[in-house]
Amino acid sequence: MARHTLLVLAHPRTDSLTAQVAARLRARVESEGGTVDVLDLYAEGFDPLLHPADEPDWEDREKVYSPEVHAHMDRILAADDILVVFPVWWFAPPAVLKGWIDRVWNYGFAYGRSRPRLAGKRLLWLALMGGTAEEIEELGMEKALGLLLVTGISAYCGLPDAALRVLHGTELSGVPAELRADRVAELLTAAEKTVDEVLAR
Ligand SMILES: Cc1cc2nc3c(=O)[nH]c(=O)nc-3n(C[C@H](O)[C@H](O)[C@H](O)COP(=O)(O)O)c2cc1C
Repeated sequence: MARHTLLVLAHPRTDSLTAQVAARLRARVESEGGTVDVLDLYAEGFDPLLHPADEPDWEDREKVYSPEVHAHMDRILAADDILVVFPVWWFAPPAVLKGWIDRVWNYGFAYGRSRPRLAGKRLLWLALMGGTAEEIEELGMEKALGLLLVTGISAYCGLPDAALRVLHGTELSGVPAELRADRVAELLTAAEKTVDEVLAR
């Protein structure tokens, strides 16, 4: 049966490299016969602030959260694969993405049950980092992000089948204009290969 992917995009600009990567990956999944629900957090105006309505109540696993949050939970439940594409800002995901996790990956839904509701889904965090491979390694940037996203969030939510992959050298201002198109093409191909490796098993 065709797989259904929730493709989460966190970038303020529709012409960003991040958005181009997301568009390429959507086309890739669809070309394989899969269906895609694109969740563009900025375009949908997602509010990343955790208001009391969505604050977990540790004494009520069945708490009813805001309608917006329940709608997002439904989109997650419908997916076989979750693919999250985002730029790294200060070693971390953009605030809108962190807020999506804070609000939607909530107690009683993503964690806090003996049988996690997200178990069995495959999750790929695809991070665009401006730094070079050497800088990323030297500063421990990928390690830090892995601890946050793979250990702290995915594994905690019962998703052992989760991976973080990094596209490095994505800050293109230093690349001569005549070489930029080639560099973008290279990065888009690398993104496709990554998805093939991680999700097309
Ligand atoms: C606020 C901000 C913080 C950033 N912090 C980092 C960082 O910690 N590490 C890194 O490698 N790149 C960092 N960058 C560079 C971005 O990751 C890079 O510009 C982005 O991946 C390029 O993709 P885009 O054109 O789609 O934005 C930062 C960029 C911004 C705007």
